[in-house]
Amino acid sequence: MSQIQEVKEATDIIEVIGSRITLQRSGTYFKGLCPFHGEKSPSFFVDERLQRYKCFGCGESGDVFTFLEKYEGMSFSEALQQLADKADITLESYKKSSDDELREQLLEVLNLAKEYYHFLLTKHKTGEVAREYLKDRHVNSESIKLFQLGYSLPGWDGLIKFLHIKKKYKMELLEQAGLVIKGKQGRYYDRFRGRVMFPLRDSRGRVVGFSGRILQGDEKDAKYINSPETLLYHKSKMLFGFSELFQHIRKAGQVIVVEGEFDVVTSQQAHVNNIVAIKGSALTEDHAKLLARVADTVLLSLDSDNAGVKATKKSIEVLKPTKVELRVIQVPEGKDPDELIRKDPRLWRETVKHSVTAYDFLIDAAFKQFDATSPSGKRKIMEELAPVLAQVKHAVELEHYIKSVATKLGVQVSTVTSDVRSFKRHNVLPPEKQDIPQQAEAKKKLTPKEQQEQYCVYLLFSGPESKLVARAQQLSEFNFETSGVNQIIRTLGDQEGSMNVRMFSSHLPEDLKQTLFDIMAEYRSKNTLEASKEEWKLALKKLKKLSIAERINQITHQLALLDDKPDKSDKEEARQNELLKEIVLLRKQV
Ligand code: CTP
Ligand code: MN
Repeated sequence: MSQIQEVKEATDIIEVIGSRITLQRSGTYFKGLCPFHGEKSPSFFVDERLQRYKCFGCGESGDVFTFLEKYEGMSFSEALQQLADKADITLESYKKSSDDELREQLLEVLNLAKEYYHFLLTKHKTGEVAREYLKDRHVNSESIKLFQLGYSLPGWDGLIKFLHIKKKYKMELLEQAGLVIKGKQGRYYDRFRGRVMFPLRDSRGRVVGFSGRILQGDEKDAKYINSPETLLYHKSKMLFGFSELFQHIRKAGQVIVVEGEFDVVTSQQAHVNNIVAIKGSALTEDHAKLLARVADTVLLSLDSDNAGVKATKKSIEVLKPTKVELRVIQVPEGKDPDELIRKDPRLWRETVKHSVTAYDFLIDAAFKQFDATSPSGKRKIMEELAPVLAQVKHAVELEHYIKSVATKLGVQVSTVTSDVRSFKRHNVLPPEKQDIPQQAEAKKKLTPKEQQEQYCVYLLFSGPESKLVARAQQLSEFNFETSGVNQIIRTLGDQEGSMNVRMFSSHLPEDLKQTLFDIMAEYRSKNTLEASKEEWKLALKKLKKLSIAERINQITHQLALLDDKPDKSDKEEARQNELLKEIVLLRKQV
């Protein structure tokens, strides 16, 4: 048995997927909200016995490996490695790609760097300044532990001494990890010096980079320094706090997005722990995808008014394909959450409770910016808001906002409506990104016989496993039209001794596994766990009838062709007689 097979057999897809998204048993299946596209009612199905998943909304399907590849962004070998580790299987035969190997080494040094910085902050006497600084910023020791905060020494080579001189890692590796910089004379030096260190983790919790904040007093340098883009660190995907606070975010189903690391750290101390930071950058599509996996509402908390309006508009765009709802938290007096919390944690909790929809926020902002009492002010407000309102998809919602704008402007609702319409007419809105990544394949119409075939296959595989082989043998006499089914049934019928669905299917070639899974999934709404004996008998009888009817059709067709032939050869005459005999026999059976 191959090791991939071994890992597969030792793994349960329900456990792997169920630990990441909420799954509920429904008859023979587990179902949940599809993590690959936004949806409100579940069309994502996982089959325990066939160890496969499929979404009937977007068409995504596959096995435990493809799930991890798509959901976690792992490579195949990373997925294999992780599942093998979990099952306590040592991979021997599997050859890693050189990229994988480099990735692993980078993760190793980044993790060691994290430990080194954390040690300096929490244990070493040189870390005292940073401890003082964090105390000053009201960061407690639980937070230091949770986020594994650290401290980098002010000198040029603190980390180099540890990782290169002591631990013997190559300089090139440290450079590729973004930890050291090669100077003009070819000398290396530490990237992070004299800073509070925030480990930056990917969605799987692995340290992929750092950001470092300068301590007070040394503010001639940049306030924050971040890892550069590396094989592992991608700024556009980074959400500080996502991995540490993942469970809180999932539980809340809502996620607050703030700008800075300190906002996340102190907010979490104030018991608002469904929060991440985009680190001063804009919300990207990658961020949106990541957040949409766990939350249906994003609450954007932004620094200042003008930048906030811009960021909100952009975020509406970015979140649009995900169906995630956008709300805005307005922090008073241009403060950031951290500053508000320092004043009084309760203020922050209250502020969060009073979030408004992104549209209400933009409407408010426009009315703040322009004078709604003058005609030119009214025009400017409409110029600002028409493109915003044009984006509201639902009619009821749109009406709500239009009414609100009309009231505030002191004009008729119809006036605002016509302004929005005219904007839409003159500006072809960019084509909406497909909500559904990949159109679910159009369903081919099945003949009654094909339908019955597939129903029998469904009954067979959802029936008692003790009867699996015997029932497959009963089905072997039929000629199945559905491609692949003949092979599945014959292979199963040839099995000796006891067999269960999971074991059997795990040895099937991938395409046949998919065929079987597709058939089973069609019946996902049937809630019977095991069909009765009678149902099985009845289904077989019906299949037999349909098979005979079909054969009669075929023969009739062939006979018609032969009849039309003027001079038949002896062979053709014989064939005609044979067919006639067969049809008589068949007719007797129905
Ligand atoms: N940032 C960054 N690089 C910079 C400046 C800022 O990555 N050169 C990121 C940091 O994550 C920072 C966030 O952008 O927390 C917001 O920046 P800023 O408003 O300058 O942060 P402050 O709130 O002033 O930072 P602090 O609370 O640490 O004083
Ligand atoms: Mn701040």
